[in-house]
Amino acid sequence: AFKRSERDMEKMRGHVLAVPYPTQGHITPIRQFCKRLHSKGLKTTLTLTTFVFNSIKPDQSGPISIATISDGYDQGGFESAGSIHDYLQNLKTFGSKTIADIIRKHQSSDNPITCIVYDAFMPWALDVAREFGLAAAPFFTQSCAVNYVYYLSYINHGNLNLPIEDLPFLELHDLPSFFSVSGSYPAYFEMVLQQFINFEKADYVLVNTFQELELHEKELLSKVCPVLTIGPTLPSMYLDQRIKLDTEYDLNLFDSEDATFCTNWLDSRPQGSVVYVAFGSMAQLSSVQMEELASAVRNFSFLWVVRSSEEAKLPLGFLETLYKEKSLVLKWSPQLQVLSNKAIGCFLTHCGWNSTMEALTFGVPMVAMPQWTDQPMNAKYIQDVWKAGVCVKTEKESGIAKREEIEFSIKEVMEGEKSKEIKKNAEKWRDLAVKSLSEGGSTDINIDAFVSKVQTI
Ligand code: UDX
Repeated sequence: AFKRSERDMEKMRGHVLAVPYPTQGHITPIRQFCKRLHSKGLKTTLTLTTFVFNSIKPDQSGPISIATISDGYDQGGFESAGSIHDYLQNLKTFGSKTIADIIRKHQSSDNPITCIVYDAFMPWALDVAREFGLAAAPFFTQSCAVNYVYYLSYINHGNLNLPIEDLPFLELHDLPSFFSVSGSYPAYFEMVLQQFINFEKADYVLVNTFQELELHEKELLSKVCPVLTIGPTLPSMYLDQRIKLDTEYDLNLFDSEDATFCTNWLDSRPQGSVVYVAFGSMAQLSSVQMEELASAVRNFSFLWVVRSSEEAKLPLGFLETLYKEKSLVLKWSPQLQVLSNKAIGCFLTHCGWNSTMEALTFGVPMVAMPQWTDQPMNAKYIQDVWKAGVCVKTEKESGIAKREEIEFSIKEVMEGEKSKEIKKNAEKWRDLAVKSLSEGGSTDINIDAFVSKVQTI
């Protein structure tokens, strides 16, 4: 059973301090990884920044302990920082100090911290681990492919020569947005390159992917560091309804809707009939893009997540004229429950890495509308490497995906000539993902190896 008895807990050896970058797309996979480590006998403590902790007031009765660190913005969080650069600087300064405080606090306990699993966006955490003689493992929340490209650019001083010898099919517009949209988000670009300043000194490099999905790319990255693929980090309850391993709901940074209302609505819809539309936790669409999207999805039965901060961009009267039996707009969805529901026919996605892995794991075909960062490259893989979806064509000048193109792509995946092949491929990836997670699968073996390593320190 997943929930261990108090006696078992007492016997737990090894204690991982897990430090995610404080956004939804990073907290979720690292927290799920913690749960898996816990189920295999490791004590785990997850850190949240004081601001995030106070915003969501997490339930602390679960198996994963929660501790707070500071990013220097305890009152206002990221939004109150002067710039991305300032935020990252302060996260390092205040983060290092407060992580060290947590380690010291646990030093005299029965189960002191023995290893730090830290977000690869925060490579300075390795120095904190070493200061205390602890094991250290960065957790990469993005794909091996994306990270390999960043690595190549890091060793080439921020440049990248095309074609990439080992990945010759990638063109400029397929790369993460930092390469193709020149000068965009320099502080983030710097951050994704800095992931590699010390990664060869880590005990393990954990990547949220599974080996079968990225055989070639994993091999490329393995040439330069000790990669362990430990994904997908989904809770098993969604993969096998018979095993209720986990009954807690996820840590949500957004106003949550009633999950039961949403799943009841989906249960009332015919199999494979609903287009699920969601752009993760960060992407911001232009009003023009929202209008095009709204016009396109109107022709289908859909479930569309429009976060509160995006709502004002919906066309006037759109929500009021929605035929509620057929379509639903939510501020935030229980995405895993949505993707595992039979009513979903396809996922129109921004191709954030978590969303991509979730769709692949549930065998849901994708319509890719990447926005920025790693998403264009994930979209390229979805369409041309894994062949589990199609990319919506965008206008060259404006970058806008027009309504006809969106509608065309949805039809292609739901009912077109290609749809059978795409569905078959999506199912193939689902089976491989589930196999990798199951006992004796590649991910399961890697997690066991990691747990043994931490327990022998
Ligand atoms: C960000 C980046 O954009 C992404 O490209 C990167 O790989 C990770 O960090 P985000 O944009 O939020 O993440 O997208 P994604 O990686 O897909 O993560 C979103 C998470 O929120 C997913 O786990 C998804 O299941 C969850 N989600 C999203 C919900 O639970 N409900 C929603 O309505 C929308």
